[in-house]
Amino acid sequence: MEPIVETPVCHPRRNRRGQAQGGRPASYAGDMSELITNIGELMTQDQDQGTRRNAAVVLEGERVAWIGDAVHAPAADTVTDAHGRAVLPGWVDSHSHLIFAGDRTAEFEARMAGESYTAGGIAVSVAATRAAGDYDLTRLALGRVAEAVAQGTTYLETKTGYGLDVEHEARSARIASTIADEATFLGAHLVPAGADADEYTELVCGEMLRAVRPFVTWADVFCETGAFTPEQSRRVLTACRDAGLGLRVHGNQLGPGAGAALAVEFGAASVDHVNYLTDDDVDRLAQSWSGWAGGTGDRGTVATVLPACDLSTRQPLAPARRLLDAGVQVAIASNCNPGTSYTSSVAFCVTTAVLQMGLSVHEAVRAATWGGALALHRETGADEDGRRAVGSIAVGHRADLHMLKAPSAAHLAYRPGIPLTHAVWKAGVREA
Ligand code: NIG
Repeated sequence: MEPIVETPVCHPRRNRRGQAQGGRPASYAGDMSELITNIGELMTQDQDQGTRRNAAVVLEGERVAWIGDAVHAPAADTVTDAHGRAVLPGWVDSHSHLIFAGDRTAEFEARMAGESYTAGGIAVSVAATRAAGDYDLTRLALGRVAEAVAQGTTYLETKTGYGLDVEHEARSARIASTIADEATFLGAHLVPAGADADEYTELVCGEMLRAVRPFVTWADVFCETGAFTPEQSRRVLTACRDAGLGLRVHGNQLGPGAGAALAVEFGAASVDHVNYLTDDDVDRLAQSWSGWAGGTGDRGTVATVLPACDLSTRQPLAPARRLLDAGVQVAIASNCNPGTSYTSSVAFCVTTAVLQMGLSVHEAVRAATWGGALALHRETGADEDGRRAVGSIAVGHRADLHMLKAPSAAHLAYRPGIPLTHAVWKAGVREA
């Protein structure tokens, strides 16, 4: 590879045939344009564009305006030379829990010494989160977002779930809505100590849901032994659906259970964890995509795998290979949280998915970009609708790009543990 050039190089403007010209290049709504050229491998995760060699991309404002061969690249206001590096869509992290205070290192160490993970550890984070002031809670969450962006994440979902009373869930929802792209209500994360499970479920479905509703577009439930029973989960999903929220489910994490089946029954956008799936669960998930042929029609339920969590809890790895082979759409996410997965590194999850779960590099990158977008219903969108697609690189999509310090995405698995992020653009703005 060529030596690394950190600063963009400004070239004189040229017209679309590459001839020098004095006026502005054709632009979208007068936005500034940036040409990123000499891209060794452009893995677009767009069906039409595929993976291109020696490519270039033009960003205009927040959108991708042009994709093609570097030799045919049009003029732009500024030029960034990739010097043969690879460019991917920014990671779309569709599952995180960033609104928390406190520390659970001791629990992690006990687990590494042989203890099992149980949902009960959530209570430690709830106590610390309630005790934190607004400023500190926001500052901590923003720090985690910055850490994620610096590693290539350009679109992020995060959840409540460490408040677990009306006041603190509403506060977490408000903070989530200001620091993340998508905010999810997870009041049904754990029944707080001393509370009656059914009464608490009623609170989640009533007053708590009303308090968080202005801040969130999604709702989630932890359907698992030690958290919420299938019947309680059903009540939560029904109430949240009736309130107009999109649905997600934490399911089949610690043992076989009803989570995946409930998620499909309710048309949830995703069921996350999925470590313990029966053949019937896999069939149901695959069946949920049968009306979606060619990317049109109703979306099914994405199976979101969380490799860092599986390693940190010493659970069997989620069967991502089996799910893909069965025709299930799969996403990979960080599940960044203080209990089971204290990392915001989607790259680490992608590496693990390739090395340990049997996915190809292309499949793993797809699951962590386009798959995450699909799990958040953000894989489509265009200039006209004001909500640009994320998770793939195509004209009109949001300009969310991740340039690696490597000539190809294969290096994510070939060089495990090496920080490979060279540059990040979020909505056309260089963030790292
Ligand atoms: O997704 N499984 C439930 N919730 C989180 C863990 C929460 C915690 O232990 O703090 C997860 O793994």
